[in-house]
Amino acid sequence: MSKDLITEHTNALSVFENIKRTKLVFGEGAALHTGQLAKDLGLSHVLLVTDVGLVNAGHAEFVRESLVKAGIEVTIFDQVIENPTSDCVEKAKQLAFDAKVDSFIGLGGGSSMDTAKGANFLLTNGGRIHDYWGVNKATKDMLPLIVIPTTAGTGSECQSFALISDSETHQKMACGDTKAIAKTAILDPCLTLSLPENVTMCTGIDAIAHAVETAVTNKRNDLSNLFSTEAFKLLLPNFSKVISDPNNLNARGSMLLGAAMAGCAIEASMLGAAHSLANPLTAHFNVIHGQAVGMMLPYVIRFNSKLAECRAIYGQLSSAVQIDTASGLGNEGENLAAYLLNLLKKVGMPVQLRDIIGGKQMIPLLAKEAASQWTAGFNPLLAGEIEMENIYLEAY
Ligand SMILES: [Fe+2]
Repeated sequence: MSKDLITEHTNALSVFENIKRTKLVFGEGAALHTGQLAKDLGLSHVLLVTDVGLVNAGHAEFVRESLVKAGIEVTIFDQVIENPTSDCVEKAKQLAFDAKVDSFIGLGGGSSMDTAKGANFLLTNGGRIHDYWGVNKATKDMLPLIVIPTTAGTGSECQSFALISDSETHQKMACGDTKAIAKTAILDPCLTLSLPENVTMCTGIDAIAHAVETAVTNKRNDLSNLFSTEAFKLLLPNFSKVISDPNNLNARGSMLLGAAMAGCAIEASMLGAAHSLANPLTAHFNVIHGQAVGMMLPYVIRFNSKLAECRAIYGQLSSAVQIDTASGLGNEGENLAAYLLNLLKKVGMPVQLRDIIGGKQMIPLLAKEAASQWTAGFNPLLAGEIEMENIYLEAY
C-alpha cells in the first residue's frame, strides 16, 4: 500500500458495526419454501402475523399450507393495521401467549413485520412496547422470526427496528434491538404482483428515499455506502417499469431486492430529514408514508446540497444509475432533486405541500414536530425547527 493511501485512510478514521446477519432467500416462488426454511430453524408452532387483505388475497393460506406440509403448527393473527399501534402489538402478543407459539412469521408490509417484532419483544421480555423504545432495551433472548415482505418498501425485513405508534398519543416509537432482527427473510417477487398501483408507487418511492437518505446521513460509512448505492441502482430504473408494467417480474424482483438492500443501509446508517418531515404529515393529515417521504425528499436533497460532501454523494448516486447531473442547470444535488421531482410528477404523485395541507397555518407546528423526530439527528446538515420550517415552505 502506498504511503499516500495509508495517510488518506488514517485521516478519515471510520468506525462502524457490521450488520447482524439475516439469511435472505430471494427468487420467484421463494415463499413456497417457507415450511422447509422454518423447519431448518427448528420451529414447531408459529404465529403468522398478517392483515385481512393478505388473508383475502390468499397469501396467508399459501404460506400456512407450506408450513403445515412441513409439520409446523400455525396460529394466525390477521388483525395488523397500517402504522401499527401499541394496542395492536399487545393483541398479537396475547394470541402468541395463549397459543404457546415458539416463533413468529411476519407476512406483509412493514406493518406486519413490525407487529411481529413488537409482539416478540413483549412475549419474551414482558412489559409494554414503550419499554423497548430506543436501542437494545431487551435483556432476554427473543423467539426466532421469519419475515416475508409483500411490498418493496420499508426494508423492515433487514432491520432490527419495529416502528410502533402509541395508541393514544400517536407518537411513533422506534424500538430497535439486534435480538429482534429476522433469522430469515423470504423475498418472493410473485407476492408483490397483486399490489394495487398506489401501494406499488408509495412503497417504491419510500425505498428510493431510503437509498438516498442513508447515503448522506452523518452515520454513513463504507458499508452503508455499498448498500445505499446498490439499492439505488436496483430501485431507480425499475420504479417506472413496475408502474407501467405491473406484471414485470424481473422489475418486481429488482424492487424487492433493492428495498431489502435499502433496509440494510438503514440498519447501517439510519435516515434523515425527509423522514422527519414526513412523519408529522402522516400524523396530522393521514398522508401515506411513502407519499409524504417522496414529496419531501427533493427539497431535503436541495437543503443538504449546501454541503459539498453531500453534493458529491448525490453526484455518485446519479452516475451509478447514469443520470447526468453534471451538465444540468444546477449542482449535482439540485439536478438529482429535479430528476426525482419529475419522476414523482410523471407517476402522478403530489410534489407540493399546498395540495396536502391547504393553508400554511400548520407549518410552524409541523416544523416543531419534524425537528423533534429521531431521524432529524442523523441528517448531515443541522435540521432544527427553523430549517424544517424553511424546507416545508420550499415544498409549499
Ligand atoms: Fe420510509
